Amino acid sequence: MALSGQRIVIIGGSSGMGLATARAAAAAGAAVTIASSDPGRLQAALAELPDTCAGAVVNTRNEADIAALFARAGELDHVVYTAGDTVRPRPLADLPLDAAREMLEVRFWGAVAAVKHAAPRIRPGGSVVLTSGTIAVRPVPGAALAAGAAAATEGLTRGLAAELAPIRVNAVRAGAIRTPLWNSVPEPQRAALFAALAGQTLTKSIGEAEQIAAAHLYLMENHFVTGTVLTVDGGAILARS
Ligand SMILES: NC(=O)c1ccc[n+]([C@@H]2O[C@H](COP(=O)([O-])OP(=O)(O)OC[C@H]3O[C@@H](n4cnc5c(N)ncnc54)[C@H](OP(=O)(O)O)[C@@H]3O)[C@@H](O)[C@H]2O)c1
Repeated sequence: MALSGQRIVIIGGSSGMGLATARAAAAAGAAVTIASSDPGRLQAALAELPDTCAGAVVNTRNEADIAALFARAGELDHVVYTAGDTVRPRPLADLPLDAAREMLEVRFWGAVAAVKHAAPRIRPGGSVVLTSGTIAVRPVPGAALAAGAAAATEGLTRGLAAELAPIRVNAVRAGAIRTPLWNSVPEPQRAALFAALAGQTLTKSIGEAEQIAAAHLYLMENHFVTGTVLTVDGGAILARS
């Protein structure tokens, strides 16, 4: 019951990993606020969460949105940042630098802004959990900017853990997880892609959002863990493919 009565803000909480974490944290007795940019998506998510959960429309490209979110939230215990947009693979040679910079806007700079505005309001014992991916350490051609964003988030996690202590700062490095992020890939190609990605793990499986939620809860609850990047990837980094 470590999260019972705690106040948690999940940016990116309307879908996928963030929504699964909202569900799990609310079930553990936390008061959860989910935030995301699409009002319709946010309402649909709230409809399937308990009444103890609240929602806020926030576009993490806009610092004023983030500042207003935390000003309204007041004192809180944990922030989980899972906001991320779909980034299509594109070789650097075909990528104007403005577009390259834009690829870090939600995943990296949004996380920076969230921590900046949340940290002064986090109560003793509280924490931040950020999001990285196995691409940080096992990149593929065409995704160098996504790899850079993920690796930058891991460095940010360690740097902020040192800077903001005793507030704890951790990240989850996710492997391939079955979430709506992949909905832009139509069926039956998506099923084939998942089968191929599962084949590139040691567990021969795709991850589920609930498995990332369990990692988020562990990082929030364990007061001796900070500056850690917790890999949840079915052994994808170690697997030969
Ligand atoms: N799924 C995977 O296989 C996988 C693997 C490794 C890493 N990741 C990373 O993990 C993170 C979460 O992924 P997921 O699979 O849970 O994705 P998802 O189901 O698509 O959820 C992404 C969330 O981010 C929100 N979001 C997107 N742009 C936003 C913005 N500008 N402002 C505020 N919220 C925004 C979305 O809500 P709105 O649309 O309402 O804004 C949604 O709630 C992403 O950064 C993703 O790159 C995913």
